[in-house]
Amino acid sequence: MIKGHDAIRQAYRDETVAREYVDTRFREPLGALLHARQVAAIRRLIGEKRPSRVLEIAPGPGRLTVDVSKGIDGFVMMPVLVEASAQMLSEARRRLARTSLRWRTLQGDAFSLPFANAFDLVYVFRLIRHFRSTERTLLYRQIAKVLRPGGTLVFDAINEIVSAPLRAYAPGEYQHYDALMRPDVLEMELAESELELVSLEGVQRRYPALARIQTLVAPRSRQMARLAIELVDRFGGGAPLEWIVTCRRR
Ligand SMILES: C[S@@+](CC[C@H](N)C(=O)[O-])C[C@H]1O[C@@H](n2cnc3c(N)ncnc32)[C@H](O)[C@@H]1O
Repeated sequence: MIKGHDAIRQAYRDETVAREYVDTRFREPLGALLHARQVAAIRRLIGEKRPSRVLEIAPGPGRLTVDVSKGIDGFVMMPVLVEASAQMLSEARRRLARTSLRWRTLQGDAFSLPFANAFDLVYVFRLIRHFRSTERTLLYRQIAKVLRPGGTLVFDAINEIVSAPLRAYAPGEYQHYDALMRPDVLEMELAESELELVSLEGVQRRYPALARIQTLVAPRSRQMARLAIELVDRFGGGAPLEWIVTCRRR
């Protein structure tokens, strides 16, 4: 049996998956909003902290990388990407050729990062969530090892309270394992790896309403759906489906 660690790597070793990843998952308004919020959070942190050394782990085809790159080439030096899939890495290189920031791109394993004490900011999206507690701890430890003391880690986590009922209703819609988290558990597991939780930014509030707008409005007008989704997410209140997690290396 393929263990969780390898199953996630295998799933992305495919040229078609790499080429179609961004359009399939992040072009429609619901995905596009999530993408925009994640890009904004990373760019905001880069603006505030002015990190000179930045690492993105598991960038896939550079979904976030391309938009994060815009306007940060003045102070970020030699940013680095570490990605397991050769197909994803080649798609990322192709897409990044359009940006002015030059990333060093490495094919490598997030569970065995070839750096120590080297980065001021690390971000990693849609990777940690696919692992169970023991493997998440291994990942957090690797990241804590490559961060300088006081450095920042940003990643995403799924809110158990909102997601568990949605998954119970439609279990077939979820292809890979996802860890469903609670803030107290998250804070505790980070602390065990020398990482201090700084903030949780909620995204995709009122998720069932957002999904209905996507299904009913987006086929008629993407623009209208995007606006409605943005308004509900921002002003609708309620618990978010996901968080953008920021933490600090002790
Ligand atoms: C769901 S994609 C996420 C891509 C991108 N970060 C995003 O948020 O859209 C997961 C990525 O993690 C990569 N990956 C899986 N296991 C990995 C590992 N052990 N080390 C580095 N990358 C890994 C896969 O190849 C894939 O590109």
